Amino acid sequence: MSENSLIEIKQLTKQFPIGKKWFKPTGFVRAVDGLDFSINKGETFGLVGESGCGKSTTGRLINGLIKANQGEIIFDGQDLTELSEKQWKSYRKRMQMIFQDPFASLSPRMKVKDIVMEPLDVHYPQMPKAEKQEKAKRLLEICGLSPYHLNKYPHEFSGGQRQRISIARALILNPELIIADEAVSALDVSIQSQVLNLLVDLQEEFQLTYLFISHDLSVVEHISDRIGVMYLGNLVEVATKEQLFKNPKHPYTQSLLSSVPQLGESKKERITIKGEIPSASNPPKGCKFHTRCPFAMDICKEKVPQNTSIEDGHKVACHLY
Ligand SMILES: Nc1ncnc2c1ncn2[C@@H]1O[C@H](COP(=O)(O)OP(=O)(O)OP(=O)(O)O)[C@@H](O)[C@H]1O
Ligand SMILES: [Mg+2]
Repeated sequence: MSENSLIEIKQLTKQFPIGKKWFKPTGFVRAVDGLDFSINKGETFGLVGESGCGKSTTGRLINGLIKANQGEIIFDGQDLTELSEKQWKSYRKRMQMIFQDPFASLSPRMKVKDIVMEPLDVHYPQMPKAEKQEKAKRLLEICGLSPYHLNKYPHEFSGGQRQRISIARALILNPELIIADEAVSALDVSIQSQVLNLLVDLQEEFQLTYLFISHDLSVVEHISDRIGVMYLGNLVEVATKEQLFKNPKHPYTQSLLSSVPQLGESKKERITIKGEIPSASNPPKGCKFHTRCPFAMDICKEKVPQNTSIEDGHKVACHLY
């Protein structure tokens, strides 16, 4: 594990059983299919890809909400997949999730201050109530809400404000890693950038590391230092934001980028991909992208492409390189 990395994912695999015949599954969805990447301390790693490619599953595996079939999740030197439920407790504090729909993740019958304080009740039951309240108040303030909001209920807030409440709640245990899964996808564009800017400010103030999951490349571009492009359970390209946007290598990345409107730049050649994303329960052989790739060659149908280094920090899994 490199000195700088907070988390290192190695060959991470998750398969969900599907269908049932004689009490046995009839197949498996290969949601995450041998992922490798790492996130450095203090950076934001963006994970993008189409719906169903395994982004949320990756986040849930890291957070321990679901268990991996194979692979390692090394967090600060410890492989989390080896931990017992009891040992997990101390790690759970150190990483928190923020979800897409703050309304669904905030209990409707609890006051905002209680929602934000709740993780302290679980992890620090001895802490005096006044201290918990003070922490909740301070964090809500940092997240742009006033003390006046403390005794209100989630339905009394706008979508952007509700996301600020979820962020305050995620921060109260002083985590090191925040996994944000489509955290701004449900918000209007103008509110999106306010919440993204808040996340950037908080990252500096609390030295946070982010895994930022989104299907929206322009959101990922706004916030990420490095980006991983995911397709059917694998990363096809990993690069710094600058490398990825200036010099996308994988045909899938190129097609994603050419569907993002770009202002003030010379028109790049548009790459359009054909067809729907194949089923993750029966993915294509060889390179999983070959069925939609405009540059597919014979080898792509047979052989899984290995990661190739394009330049420092830029890797792509494609037979073209
Ligand atoms: N609990 C589950 N049981 C069975 N299949 C599942 C389960 N959770 C996810 N899947 C499947 O795993 C694959 C990856 O799902 P995942 O939710 O990780 O995708 P995603 O990239 O987050 O998509 P989206 O952008 O729509 O949120 C999909 O094919 C999905 O149907
Ligand atoms: Mg998802």
